[in-house]
Amino acid sequence: MTEPRKKMTLPGLFQKVREGKPITWLTCYDYPTAHMQELAGVDMILVGDSLGMTMLGYDSTLPVTMEDMIRHSAAVRRGSPNAWLVGDMPYMSYQPSVETAIRSAGRFMAEAGCDSIKLEGGVEMADRGEGIVRAGIPAMGHLGLTPQSVSALGGFRLQGKGAAQAKKILDDARALEEAGAFCILLELVPDRLCKLITARARNCIIMSLGSGPHAHGQLLIYHDAFALYPKFKPRMAKVFADAGAVIRAGLEAYVKEVSEKTFPQPENWFGMPDEDYDELLKMLEPSS
Ligand code: KIV
Repeated sequence: MTEPRKKMTLPGLFQKVREGKPITWLTCYDYPTAHMQELAGVDMILVGDSLGMTMLGYDSTLPVTMEDMIRHSAAVRRGSPNAWLVGDMPYMSYQPSVETAIRSAGRFMAEAGCDSIKLEGGVEMADRGEGIVRAGIPAMGHLGLTPQSVSALGGFRLQGKGAAQAKKILDDARALEEAGAFCILLELVPDRLCKLITARARNCIIMSLGSGPHAHGQLLIYHDAFALYPKFKPRMAKVFADAGAVIRAGLEAYVKEVSEKTFPQPENWFGMPDEDYDELLKMLEPSS
């Protein structure tokens, strides 16, 4: 029998960094997938507000609510008791004020059993991060392509390309680390910028999503890694298994077998002993 997994903790994550072992991180939004990620030994799970697109079919993450996030995060926690669970603060759950941010972060911890939260933005959101950390909640930042600001960023594209843009992201990373963030996700920035930020981080874990190999670990969106999102496949994602094709083939087989009356077979149903059936028929006979 395999050993039960140990609960991943903050010291456990930092120990991996010290030992030069990359941290594994995936998004997840539901109980059965969380169970599989738990069994696979994924270190960290992000219940991303990307669920607005991957699970709810919106065109962006903006319509996602706190209620959506809490419900999905709690389901993921039930499926994976041991991964380090990050709840993603949805649009307008932290931007209005430090107090709003602390209250929303607290809901992820108290109602969903998360281990930490993530918020998007740098210098301008550092006070929200600081307030959350002061409230005793581990907080992480998200820089580069931040989907909640996709309109201002001009679309889903590489960020930090020129020196000035890159310097802004470096400054943002420093501000978040000074605010107490234990971790920063760099999404879709050039590999050299990610390497520089990782080398300069003092007490902060740097994670990469499409930002190259030099961070302390990697994140992928689950639906990209397993070909489950029908609208597009970003270049940064590798398809590790084509689960979408497997499920589609299974669905076609189901439709065919039911249509052709080859499903169900006797092993798929339960019978009734003759004596019970006869007795039932007698009960149905009109009494004379
Ligand atoms: O919502 C999410 O899944 C995210 C990733 C894009 C990093 O924030």
